[in-house]
Amino acid sequence: MDKFVINGGKQLKGKVTVSGAKNASLALMPAALLAPGKSVLYNTPELNDVYTMIKLLRHLGAEIEFENHTLEIDTSNINEFTAPYEHVKKMRASVYVLGPLLGKYGRAKVSLPGGCAWGPRPINLHLQALEKMGAEINFVDGYIDAKADRLKGAEIYFDISSVGDTGNTLMAAVLADGTTIINNAAIEPEITNLAVYLVKMGARIEGIGTKTLTIEGVDELTPVEMDTIPDRIEAGTLLIAASITHGNITLENIEPDLLGAVLSKLESAGCKLITGAQSVSIDASDAEILPTDVATSIYPGFPTDMQAQWTALMSLADGTSSVKDTIYYDRFKHVPELVRLGADINVVENTAIVKGVKELHGAKVMSTDLRASASLVLAGLAAKGTTEVLRVYHLDRGYQRIEEKLQTLGADIQRVSGKEY
Ligand code: EPU
Repeated sequence: MDKFVINGGKQLKGKVTVSGAKNASLALMPAALLAPGKSVLYNTPELNDVYTMIKLLRHLGAEIEFENHTLEIDTSNINEFTAPYEHVKKMRASVYVLGPLLGKYGRAKVSLPGGCAWGPRPINLHLQALEKMGAEINFVDGYIDAKADRLKGAEIYFDISSVGDTGNTLMAAVLADGTTIINNAAIEPEITNLAVYLVKMGARIEGIGTKTLTIEGVDELTPVEMDTIPDRIEAGTLLIAASITHGNITLENIEPDLLGAVLSKLESAGCKLITGAQSVSIDASDAEILPTDVATSIYPGFPTDMQAQWTALMSLADGTSSVKDTIYYDRFKHVPELVRLGADINVVENTAIVKGVKELHGAKVMSTDLRASASLVLAGLAAKGTTEVLRVYHLDRGYQRIEEKLQTLGADIQRVSGKEY
């Protein structure tokens, strides 16, 4: 298990390229199951969740090559329909194979994901939608056992707009018999990336990018090549790295539109931003960090996946701010660790009340989940002295070698390997 050792206080400067979006790749990869043959996904990030999905798809019979961010997935010989506990326990997004396996092969057995580090994350809506499309679903020995001759189009209303449900239902519906309407669909860019990919394969989907998706089932899909969109959460994390260190950086390979709410909050917090067609520059070199409230919400609102990082930034603001998570009520595992670095934060229900302090001080802190770990790295970049972030395997799940990107920008951060971390 590796740790990061960070000597804080360096202003970040320079340019860095944003990787492909983890949460887009994790949807695009299983979608390749729908079109037997060789699919090619470009701009795939090299991170552990992608490697977990590769292992899972190989377990199902896919042949995969991954080089230089290009992923070739050959699904000509899918011969296994079970996503075993070993994979699903590592990554909840493994449940994304349910929709395509059921839609294409009429059967899927997927381990129930269970809870997650910060609380419950149900998949009831995924299952309700599939049942509405005619799937027979049983729970056997901790597994979801789903079967269907051919799924049938249905009208589905999601009570909650959910990324995973929309993705899974979309992948199930493209080969169903008849028309499926998904009401209150997620409009996160990663879902749009998936829908565009499916259309390229031959799917008939209307309303892409809106809350109502209408899918006319087709008989078969063909494998195609597809670009993965840039990672808006990695980009947002790097922008906060610049603002928390009073730095001045440019991100390349990013569509600024993906970052709307985050850019607007960074401006409110006193940062200067310049956006280009494929770039964002941030200058926080002579800015005080102004207290700025956020409440997370579904896209295009402020992403829950940026909540922990924002809390780290606000811990050094000139005043008090509130950071509310309306998507995941319990996603505050980073708070006690930020407090160990000197932050003054109290969590009341689903809101962190963050009183800005003059400085943070280095200490050993523990990663608990992906975005919590990112917030600790950010705090460590700004803290006086040395911060050790233990258990960075959480970060490696979702960021492609973040320490190298931060080093490029002038941060003093080292990865140290050793089994006790
Ligand atoms: N929900 C239900 N029932 C369901 C599904 C979801 O009640 O069947 C609720 C959840 O409890 C939550 C809300 O709906 O309150 C939204 O959850 P959603 O289904 O949208 O989340 P997800 O698909 O499991 C994806 C991302 C997460 C990100 C969320 C929210 C992937 C692989 N994961 O998860 O990413 O936080 O959307 O935007 O796309 C991360 O990258 O760190 C991460 C956790």
